[in-house]
Amino acid sequence: MDTPLSVAIDCDPGVDDAVALLLAFRSPQMRVAGVTTVAGNAGLEQVTANATAVLDLAGAPADLPVAAGAAGPIAGGERVPDEPVHGPGALGGAVLPPSSRPVSDDAVGLLTRLARAQPGELVLLALGPLTNVARLVERDPEAAGMLAGIVHMGGAAFVPGNVTPAAEFNTYCDPEAARIVLGSGLPVRLVPLDVTRRAVLHGADSDLLAASDDPVTAAAGTMLRGLTDGHERRHGVRECRVHDATAVVALLEPEGFGWQRHPVDVECTGELTRGALVTDVYRRTGRPATVELALDVDPDAAVSCLLDALEGPR
Ligand code: RIB
Ligand code: CA
Repeated sequence: MDTPLSVAIDCDPGVDDAVALLLAFRSPQMRVAGVTTVAGNAGLEQVTANATAVLDLAGAPADLPVAAGAAGPIAGGERVPDEPVHGPGALGGAVLPPSSRPVSDDAVGLLTRLARAQPGELVLLALGPLTNVARLVERDPEAAGMLAGIVHMGGAAFVPGNVTPAAEFNTYCDPEAARIVLGSGLPVRLVPLDVTRRAVLHGADSDLLAASDDPVTAAAGTMLRGLTDGHERRHGVRECRVHDATAVVALLEPEGFGWQRHPVDVECTGELTRGALVTDVYRRTGRPATVELALDVDPDAAVSCLLDALEGPR
């Protein structure tokens, strides 16, 4: 087997972040070098507690470095989630044993150290608002330049947003940070709603996982069932989308996605469009095409990859 891909994961668990973490730890093609947290699906304290609890569930090494990051967007203020999409506790109502893992409060410092320790090898998987990543780019551009790449679940290129008609949640939470990262010139692979909304888990999938004898699989199923139930209450359909886990699949199996490279900017001032991606397909802006966007996907293959990993060793 090839050398596993070294990744650092910045996240805001959230059910789909949690499933992404479980997927990463269950994938032999990946080695998680560190985890950082950012406020998004819940406040910083909650997402950090969720992240460490999921790391315990995943059997992550006790010495895996974990650091908490931004409590709110780069322009200031604190993130106060206004819609409990991810249910009570932001893990779909699942109650995991609290973790006693040590957590530092310097996410940017940890990301800097990890990037410098493995120049050209570390992939940063960014699954929440880009506040920590933007601060890394601003505070230590040399270290940021040592990343092998950034894979980010975020944005909506040519489909409606999921928070406003124009904006996807992660980008909406911190448009200024997204503009800094997407405009940094760093190699960014963007996995937007255009593809993540198409990888759908049905209620039966969640139920099957939740009924598993494997504790990790069952916990994933319970979390997904919470997301699914919430989706059914709001939309009348028993299904859910695991946006962040789909981004992990895009990293593991990029051949299952259709990629295009374009200049991408972020609207930061529009009254109705704040947080919208502006993808310059016809090169009107003269900006460099540094962002690779996943704009097509084989949804069945992506869901199968995810379910196979979550079902665990047979
Ligand atoms: O729009 C989906 C994204 O926002 C995912 O990362 C989800 O966890 C939320 O953070
Ligand atoms: Ca997330």
